[in-house]
Parts: sequence; C-alpha cells; structure tokens
Amino acid sequence: MADQRLPFPYDFKEIEPEEKADNKRLFNYPNVDFIRVGPKGYVLPRPYVEHAENIYNLPIRPSDVFVASYQRSGTTWTQELVWLLANDFDFTTALSVPITHRYPFLEIYMYYTEWSKYTLKNTENVVSIEKKEKLVKVMEVMAQPVTEKLAAMPSPRFIKTHLPMSFLPPNIVDTAKMIYIARDPRDIAVSSYHHARLFKVLDFAGEFRDFWNLFVNDRYVLTPYFEHVKEAWNMRHHPNMLFLFYEELKKDLPAVIRRVAAFLNKQVTDKQMTMLCEHLSFDNCKKNKAVNYEHLREFDMFSPNETFIRKGKSNGWREYFDDEMTQQAERWIQKNLRDTDLRFPSL
Ligand code: A3P
Repeated sequence: MADQRLPFPYDFKEIEPEEKADNKRLFNYPNVDFIRVGPKGYVLPRPYVEHAENIYNLPIRPSDVFVASYQRSGTTWTQELVWLLANDFDFTTALSVPITHRYPFLEIYMYYTEWSKYTLKNTENVVSIEKKEKLVKVMEVMAQPVTEKLAAMPSPRFIKTHLPMSFLPPNIVDTAKMIYIARDPRDIAVSSYHHARLFKVLDFAGEFRDFWNLFVNDRYVLTPYFEHVKEAWNMRHHPNMLFLFYEELKKDLPAVIRRVAAFLNKQVTDKQMTMLCEHLSFDNCKKNKAVNYEHLREFDMFSPNETFIRKGKSNGWREYFDDEMTQQAERWIQKNLRDTDLRFPSL
C-alpha cells in the first residue's frame, strides 16, 4: 500500500511591503521575489510554494546520502569529499562528471523559473547553434521536476539541499544518511554577498553593508541563519546524522575525512587519504571544472568579476566588517547562542 501523502505543515506569508521595496532597490535583477515560510519565517523564492509539498513527500531510500547546509557553508567541498569516499575513490568520474549531475539539487526548481526566463532571453543573442543546443539541454534537465528525476535515479543517490531540516521529509534521518555542514555566519555573509553578485539572476547592486543588513535581519534567502543551523544541530546525535563545520575541514581535513568515512562505513588507506586531500585542496577545487560551476559562465549566468569557488578562507570577514558591524555581529551571535549548546569552532 502506498504511503499516505502528508500535507506540507507550514504556511506561506507575504514579506512586508518595505522589504519588497528594499529588494527592488538592492537587486538589479527585477524579479527577485521572496516569501516567508512557517513559524520561523524562512525566506524562500516564491516558486518554492509550488514544490514544498512534493519535496516534503519525497520517497526516501535507505541508501540515500544527503548533503545539507545553509548556502556558502562549504557544501560543494563536502559533497565532493562524501562522493569520493562513497564511490571507492573514483577520481576519474569525479573529474569528468559535473557535481550537479552526481548530486541533484533538491530545490533547484524554485530557482528554475527565473533562470530559464533569463537564460532563454539571452539565447536570442547567442549565435552559435552548438551553444544554443547545449543551453536547451541544460534547461531541459532543469525543467524536469527534481522529484521525478530522483525517482528515476539508480541507488545510491546523492542529493544536495539548502532547505532547513523541517522542510524535508519527516522520516529522512530515520531512513537515509544526512551530512550537514555549518560555517561562521560572518564568513557566510561575505561569501553569500559575492554569490549574489556572481549570479546574474540576483545581480546584487548594494554594498557589503547592505547585504549584511539583509542577512542579519533575516531578510535574505534561507534565513534566519541560526534557526537553519540549530534545526540540524538538534539532530546531531541521531546515528544517521553527521554535523560538520567548515572550519574543521580547513583545520584538519584528514580528521574530517576519517569521521565521514566512519559514518559511511568506509575504509581509507594512507595513499587514498593523500590523494583525496590533494584532490580536495582549495587550488585543485578552484580549477576543477567538475566542481567549480564555471560551465554556467558559458550561458552568461555569471558576472565576470566573481567565481563560485572564491577565496576558501576562514575569518575572511574581518576585511569586510567595520567596528560597528563587528559589534553588531557579536551581539547577534551571542543572542542566538544563548538558548543552545551550539558552538562554532571559530566563535
Ligand atoms: P568563499 O566564498 O568564502 O571562498 P558552497 O559550496 O556551500 O556554496 O560554499 C562555497 C564556499 O566554499 C566558498 O567560500 C568556496 O570558496 C568554499 N570552498 C569550496 N571549495 C573549497 C575548498 N576546497 N577549500 C576551501 N574552501 C572551499
């Protein structure tokens, strides 16, 4: 008998008119349109509304491996680490098959509408037939609902998501494996600011201070940040949940690789460890076309002065924050850590 379909348990609310007006001012792209979801008021792109229930009801397989995070936390880095451990160090495939193919992005659909509009508009100016054909293929892949794509995928499936835990199927960690990665929110704010300038469908026009104000006031996509992290942190003792920090990968990558290997019941020889650390080094990831998302540049989706894999540093935020922002961040962090035993290695 088929399992009963669950209603999506949260409501959707319009954002305040003043927030809407700010977004119009701060993003060059005209169609940035957010809504708030559930009691915590998570900010999501409007098309999420149509897909929330399908995602909430996604059939989960025991062999599934999820990599989850707030965006810009080192997701791609973790995905690559996990995939290679789970796939017998198959570097050949890792280097040739883009990470987007190896890991469907669960909620990509919510970005698709605007991406497709933007990109198809651009095809008008793309002269090469070859490029047009490629673009149509990319759009076809994106147009397919991810839940359908996942149903057709052989096991084991590797899945990326930036959704908070409460928006995922309720049985997820009782059934499959989940790896969540968190990062110092000040570094995330800087990284997300560049990311919002990188993607032309956002085309953030403001200064870093403007971006920080959106982020810290829970007005940017997927915020409130601490709620996102705490939901996963509160599940960290579940045997199918592994909670990591970006700063731990930076400090001692082999130690994290050993933890992930133990979590996935995999062995790692010394030679494999050396090869994996080399493969996962910042410089190698930055030039690795299978993980650096540079293929999107071909379709005019990226601004020229930004890259997806950017600086790869901890504490880089210090170059962006003045004294006032530093103090504001400290107060904000303290307030949010008051009711929890969540502690970041960097805080
Ligand atoms: P920065 O913008 O601070 O450089 P995500 O994959 O979640 O979007 O995270 C992107 C962040 O992870 C970017 O941070 C990116 O540079 C960093 N990153 C990616 N690969 C890395 C690596 N091998 N070493 C260190 N940082 C890496």
